Amino acid sequence: MTVVMITGGAGFIGSHLCDIYLSEGFEVVCVDNLVSGKMENIEAHLNNEKFHFEKIDISNREDVAKIFQQYKPEIVNHHAAQKSVADSVLDPFLDLNTNLYGLLNILDAIKSNPIKNFIYVSSGGALSKEIVGDETSVETDKPQQASPYAINKFAGENYIKVYTKLYKFEYTILRYANVYGNRQIPDGECGVIPIFLNNILADKPSVLMTYEDMPRGCTRDYVFIEDVKEINKLVTHTPLNTEINIGTGIEIPILDIYNTLAEIFESNQPILRKPPRLGDVKRSVLNTDKAKQLIGWKAKYELNDGLKMLKEDMQREGKI
Ligand SMILES: NC(=O)c1ccc[n+]([C@@H]2O[C@H](COP(=O)([O-])OP(=O)(O)OC[C@H]3O[C@@H](n4cnc5c(N)ncnc54)[C@H](O)[C@@H]3O)[C@@H](O)[C@H]2O)c1
Repeated sequence: MTVVMITGGAGFIGSHLCDIYLSEGFEVVCVDNLVSGKMENIEAHLNNEKFHFEKIDISNREDVAKIFQQYKPEIVNHHAAQKSVADSVLDPFLDLNTNLYGLLNILDAIKSNPIKNFIYVSSGGALSKEIVGDETSVETDKPQQASPYAINKFAGENYIKVYTKLYKFEYTILRYANVYGNRQIPDGECGVIPIFLNNILADKPSVLMTYEDMPRGCTRDYVFIEDVKEINKLVTHTPLNTEINIGTGIEIPILDIYNTLAEIFESNQPILRKPPRLGDVKRSVLNTDKAKQLIGWKAKYELNDGLKMLKEDMQREGKI
């Protein structure tokens, strides 16, 4: 049976990956230090003999090496990260420790425990170039690298490309847009939807960071978790050995996100304005033609459909 190691497996995206890998018959090693991940996200699997949870901090080299020796995974799907752009500005050392040293510890463990396939998660939004007019960001653009988070994610991509040649494994780099869906943890750059949603459900106002020339806030590309699950499945079976953008190609101002959420979740709460945060990319929208050409992946869900499905998921689980 093929063993897959999912780092960050108790988090938002990682826990959905635990679900799909188990349903596809893999043995799953979920590695997480629970700094933002939650046991409730993986609770359903704790009695499954094909599922192993290891509470490990990936910045601890010895612990990472031990886990590799113990389970000998053939596939690594690396989702553990400090994921907030704003926090990476406040504490660049934590970002470096988790997002780069943590990755290096994993790559170092691969030297003596060979793997076949590495899936590395990067950020299309943070690595986007400065968007002008109606252009979209393509993988060959020069990244802005406007934050320690972006610098470390990009450096991580480069480490993967070096290690794949040195230690002969295949890889795919997934540059996600902003992902949203059930189980998302309301913090960080990626968390605007759960942050707004928490406020709406608590009947509290939300805050919008605006620029003088962008009164509706920054723009982002939002991709639904079902589409993200699909691309992870595809590149698990067919590594692409390159980086691909994973988004919708639709640029949405944050105010429009709020208004759509308020409509679907029936709220009249106002939105308050504040100046922007340091390190934020003003506009980002991803061109996903490369994913379509290489592996036939294209986002199926537009924001309205994804948010309606999120509401149904939350209702089914009794969260609202
Ligand atoms: N959610 C998005 O919109 C988005 C967009 C672009 C990229 N990403 C990337 O996707 C990945 C997953 O993001 P998410 O939204 O699911 O976040 P998340 O916070 O829900 O998941 C991250 C997981 O990593 C774990 N973790 C953090 N530091 C760790 C450490 N030192 N050792 C072990 N585990 C650790 C956390 O406990 C958590 O379970 C991250 O790499 C993030 O940078 C996410």
